[in-house]
Amino acid sequence: MDKKLTQKKQLSPEYINNLSYTDFVGLVNQWNVLPGSYVSLTKWRHFADITSKSNILEVACTTGFSSRELAYMTGCKGVGFDISAPSVQQANENKKYYKKKINIKYIVSDGYKFSSKEKFSHVIVGAALRFFPDPQAMLNRLLGMLQDPGYILATEFYTTKDIPQKLIKEAQGVFGITPTTIAYKDVMKIYESLEVVYEDRNIPLKETDDEINFYTKSTIDRVCKLMKIKDETIYQTMFNRLKKIKEMSNALREYQGYNVVVLRRRKETFPNRFTELF
Ligand SMILES: C[S@@+](CC[C@H](N)C(=O)[O-])C[C@H]1O[C@@H](n2cnc3c(N)ncnc32)[C@H](O)[C@@H]1O
Repeated sequence: MDKKLTQKKQLSPEYINNLSYTDFVGLVNQWNVLPGSYVSLTKWRHFADITSKSNILEVACTTGFSSRELAYMTGCKGVGFDISAPSVQQANENKKYYKKKINIKYIVSDGYKFSSKEKFSHVIVGAALRFFPDPQAMLNRLLGMLQDPGYILATEFYTTKDIPQKLIKEAQGVFGITPTTIAYKDVMKIYESLEVVYEDRNIPLKETDDEINFYTKSTIDRVCKLMKIKDETIYQTMFNRLKKIKEMSNALREYQGYNVVVLRRRKETFPNRFTELF
């Protein structure tokens, strides 16, 4: 784990600006959430029947939002993993600070290598499968970790119209990866072996400049308070970078939709689909 990342003396504007997107998210403890945030978690909780008996796995958990909040709501236990050590470090800090009593373990792992002796009732992927170069291969690995029956919980972004090339390039600069440029049917193709037990499709509403400023200020104030950072240049560098991330996400919203979906794997039907999709 790169402990240096959370040591104040390392911080300079160049250092902050040169961090990878995910390490920056870890540094400032951005609560990197699934599309739909708490609302999507509430739907999963009800439509996938997550209870105190559930054992959940959060894939590419970043700072641990989904598993932490679901454990808080339901008393379920589980595991979250992410390849970014600073993000996992923050997931553990968040657990201590915000939800001490929850039984979720956060570990650093590459998803292609993660394995587990225990099986999970629910595997949370959110929008994270698109961060893996081969989403289908990653999903197939996860299906092998499910109890029977078991659930995959996703919130996939898809395009509703073509994203201009200029915006894609800008997003690549900000996030270090290409945003999803695939349409709904192509995004959902990887799930064809599963039963769709719940789904809704949503149009994201853009955030106003005031909303983005308030969110950014809340997050940067928190990290500066915790790290006792008083240097205005460091504050401003972190603020500007986080604001740019938020503005880029906001600009993409115009071209995106997202769904909230509960997919069931049952050995009696897997890997076929015997129902129509509507
Ligand atoms: C946008 S975040 C996922 C956000 C959120 N968990 C969600 O529900 O959409 C993408 C995360 O994927 C992680 N990631 C990328 N490649 C990975 C890999 N091979 N193994 C594990 N995590 C990975 C990144 O470190 C980052 O924290």
